[in-house]
Amino acid sequence: MTTRGGVGVVIGTLVCLAFLVGTKWIDHDAVPATGGVGTSGCPGRNPGRTQSSTVPLVPVPFSCGNNTSTPTALCGGSPPARKHEQKQYAPGIPPAWCPDYFRHIHTDLEPWRTAGGITRDAVERAQPHAYFRLVVSGGRAYVEKYRDSFQTRDVLTQWGILQLLARYPGRVPDVDIMFSTGDMPELRAADFHDHPDDPPSSWPPLFRYCKGRTMNLAVLWPDWSFWGWPEVNIRPWAPLLEDIVRENARLRWPDREPYAFWKGNPDMAEVRMDLFRCHNGSAGAGKARLFRQDWNAASRNGFNDSDLATQCRYRYKIYVEGQSWSASEKYILACDSPMLAIDTRFQDFFSRGLVAGKHYWPIDPANKCRAIDFAVDWGNANPVRSRWIGEEGSGFTRKEMDMDHVYEYMLHVLTQYAALLRYKPTVPENALELCPQSMACSTSGRQREFMMESRERYVARYEPCTLPPPFTSQEASHMAATEQDVRSRLVNMIEAT
Ligand SMILES: *[C@@H]1O[C@H](CO)[C@@H](O)[C@H](O)[C@H]1NC(C)=O
Ligand SMILES: *[C@@H]1O[C@H](CO)[C@@H](O)[C@H](O)[C@H]1NC(C)=O
Ligand SMILES: *[C@@H]1O[C@H](CO)[C@@H](O)[C@H](O)[C@H]1NC(C)=O
Ligand SMILES: *[C@@H]1O[C@H](CO)[C@@H](O)[C@H](O)[C@H]1NC(C)=O
Repeated sequence: MTTRGGVGVVIGTLVCLAFLVGTKWIDHDAVPATGGVGTSGCPGRNPGRTQSSTVPLVPVPFSCGNNTSTPTALCGGSPPARKHEQKQYAPGIPPAWCPDYFRHIHTDLEPWRTAGGITRDAVERAQPHAYFRLVVSGGRAYVEKYRDSFQTRDVLTQWGILQLLARYPGRVPDVDIMFSTGDMPELRAADFHDHPDDPPSSWPPLFRYCKGRTMNLAVLWPDWSFWGWPEVNIRPWAPLLEDIVRENARLRWPDREPYAFWKGNPDMAEVRMDLFRCHNGSAGAGKARLFRQDWNAASRNGFNDSDLATQCRYRYKIYVEGQSWSASEKYILACDSPMLAIDTRFQDFFSRGLVAGKHYWPIDPANKCRAIDFAVDWGNANPVRSRWIGEEGSGFTRKEMDMDHVYEYMLHVLTQYAALLRYKPTVPENALELCPQSMACSTSGRQREFMMESRERYVARYEPCTLPPPFTSQEASHMAATEQDVRSRLVNMIEAT
């Protein structure tokens, strides 16, 4: 039996280790002296943004005319992106470094970079897996649909791309992308490796929301929920994050229920059903508080009891994967309560930047009930360190993955991808032009409401953050070793109780 103090020292060390890794990820010599070093690393390092008050606000025009069901301004009426609008960007303000998770943009594109580029054949090879093909040409977006997506995943994703175009006129390069809105990663790098007839330049680059932790071929892209999830009444990320921050201030961490909360649909995945077998606080034993989300009932009562902002009432929040990644992770992280994350095989674009022992507390799926109970007991006995993890996690959501960064991530992905294309994208014959009016004016209800809430109203007034260089193999193995170290120390702590 380790004393409380002893355990505290151990996790304190973990936390410091994570810190050290964080600062080392950026190679200071490789970056110009003008930028702040990323948003990675130690507290107080987020450079924030310098909005120039001398640069005028340029509104993004949007109008459905006076009949909301017939868009009066069709796409043809909207002016093409004008290059000269680049002048609107604040001069002389050096952009900050993007957060470290942006460095995985290079990782995703690595096969094609080493192969010398992406051919049209390679892109078209991804078509059998794609739900739609999206072409940006001269600042306008065109979509060819191949099959129906679940709910409105495709619609909100395309809406997000239109907002990117509105925010950065003249900056989004011509691209030709195949997009899968499915849950399960379908392309395994192993299926392509070691095929002499299959040089990497012919491997299909497929855009999707998540990939396996072990090598999948996929270019990761933010999921639709950043622009809202109408079917389950989850607002777009920007206003929802504001709600959560407000709720966090209303109920401070010490006043929250001293247990680990999870609410969701357990039938989605084996690991979730397994989680439900943990002691649910019965007889004062288990430290988990588990609730089944019945989406049908929730839909009937207007989602009154599934408001995410008010789900920050517990001191600890459990994250568990769904069919693959789960869009819930950002809402869980934002709570100011440490996220107890059951290790997952999947990652999305931002989760690759989360550091175990710093942004979240890792839970071994093989021993999850005991690990959750331990994390809660330890956290209640070590409130300062516990809150620190909670605040690092929610700080990440506010400072490194707010919508400004999400759009910057998208812009960098497209810019890097476009630089690899070996051909000039052309608009497919069957493609339709998309514009905010054609997408929003004919919709109604919650979808319309969320589109209006997530609409970009102004052209960006500052340069996007600067993309840091790829991870060196040394950095990658150092990060992996540190993660491993955090996990094995945790196992030892649990076994010592
Ligand atoms: C909108 O309504 C005004 C009158 O209220 C009318 O003058 C105008 O022509 C209408 N515009 C369109 C596009 O229907
Ligand atoms: C808008 O236009 C459509 C199609 O022209 C028409 O069916 C509908 O009644 C109009 N709505 C209003 C409020 O005028
Ligand atoms: C867990 O316990 C809470 C009450 O503390 C109860 O409302 C909830 O339904 C229980 N969950 C399960 C999965 O039994
Ligand atoms: C949801 O809650 C609000 C106020 O809390 C109430 O006015 C409304 O009727 C509820 N809606 C449903 C469908 O129960």
